[in-house]
Amino acid sequence: MSTILVTGGAGYIGSHTVLELLNAGQRVVVVDNLDNSSAESLRRVERITGKTVDFHLLDLLDRAGLDLVFKRHQIDAVIHFAGLKAVGESVQQPLRYYHNNLGATLNLLGAMTDAGCKTLVFSSSATVYGDPERIPIVEDQALRTTNPYGATKLMIEGICRDLAIADPAWRIVLLRYFNPVGAHISGEIGEDPRGVPSNLMPYLMQVAVGKLPKLTIFGNDWPTEDGTGVRDYIHVVDLALGHLAALAKAPTLPGCTAINLGTGTGTSVLAMLHAASRMVGRLLLYLFSQRRAGDIGICYSDATRAKQLLGWAATRGIDDMCADHWRWQSRNPDGYATSTR
Ligand code: NAD
Ligand code: WQD
Repeated sequence: MSTILVTGGAGYIGSHTVLELLNAGQRVVVVDNLDNSSAESLRRVERITGKTVDFHLLDLLDRAGLDLVFKRHQIDAVIHFAGLKAVGESVQQPLRYYHNNLGATLNLLGAMTDAGCKTLVFSSSATVYGDPERIPIVEDQALRTTNPYGATKLMIEGICRDLAIADPAWRIVLLRYFNPVGAHISGEIGEDPRGVPSNLMPYLMQVAVGKLPKLTIFGNDWPTEDGTGVRDYIHVVDLALGHLAALAKAPTLPGCTAINLGTGTGTSVLAMLHAASRMVGRLLLYLFSQRRAGDIGICYSDATRAKQLLGWAATRGIDDMCADHWRWQSRNPDGYATSTR
């Protein structure tokens, strides 16, 4: 049994990963400032698994507080989810994003160094590819970003690479997620965005549950089968299991290794809307509008390296993603604020 520190573990992907770590028999310590989440997610993870989480309400910008966590627990490895993640917001508030995402990471890497903990799995993003030069996207193609959020991911990848060069004792896996959607099959935990969602799936599910009237599809003139945008949607449980695979294989991956976590399959907005409509039992209303500023038409992964290096591949399809996201949304129309039974 290892002790894993999960930063941002109360969040959407973090809470699903904490659940799978507990189910795999690991001890889990969570640091989260609850800036974009609720401790209710961890209470429900404990209820589902019957196990406990060592939760520290703490901002990673508090280095002294972070050092205390490493003093209290013998941390074997870290999964670093904590960060601000909204592309549009990052354009409006660049300093907040650079300060939080870079400052939190620099504090974490410093605290890990001082504690002699040198195994890290980092939440990167397909956003580091920008408008990809080739599709499907492979890890060694050009990296370029078009927004401050993506720039923080690219900078943190660079910091990790430089650290691993300076000290070969580090084992760092940079996981580049594509589009996480879905929820744990229990319907007890899921994505709980603040305000009106900007991402497709949570928006679609709020249309399905009646909180929003219809979906606006940003552009139907893309060079795709039905003219709508294509993405690589990956079930959040598959994503979580990809982190456990990365932790298990990290000792065999010297230095710093970037790996796509995607399905290798592209799905259009209309195809996703029809899959969600099938789950909900009625056609969800939509209209077409012009393209969203900064959007790209097609983005999906080549998932070969994850299979080769981690022995991991996504197994859940679009229907699973829609069914599981719908179960969460319909049982928790107001997310974690929904009054618990
Ligand atoms: P989320 O907002 O649900 O979770 C992030 C968590 O980090 C939240 O609980 C938040 O309170 C916490 N946090 C933020 N700043 C912190 C700080 N300074 N100190 C302590 N806690 C802090 O987001 P998510 O969707 O679970 O994403 C997790 C990670 O995956 C993020 O780094 C994100 O950039 C990355 N990612 C997400 C997506 C996606 O579409 N959801 C795609 C690619 C990459
Ligand atoms: C998906 C598709 C839209 C909403 C973003 C971030 C990325 C990562 C994942 C953090 C696109 C279309 C969407 C809507 C629509 N996050 N759409 N109507 O833009 O691929 O990626 O989230 O790392 O960094 O950029 O995801 O869900 O916003 O859009 O038509 O109301 O759905 O045009 O084709 P995206 P998305």
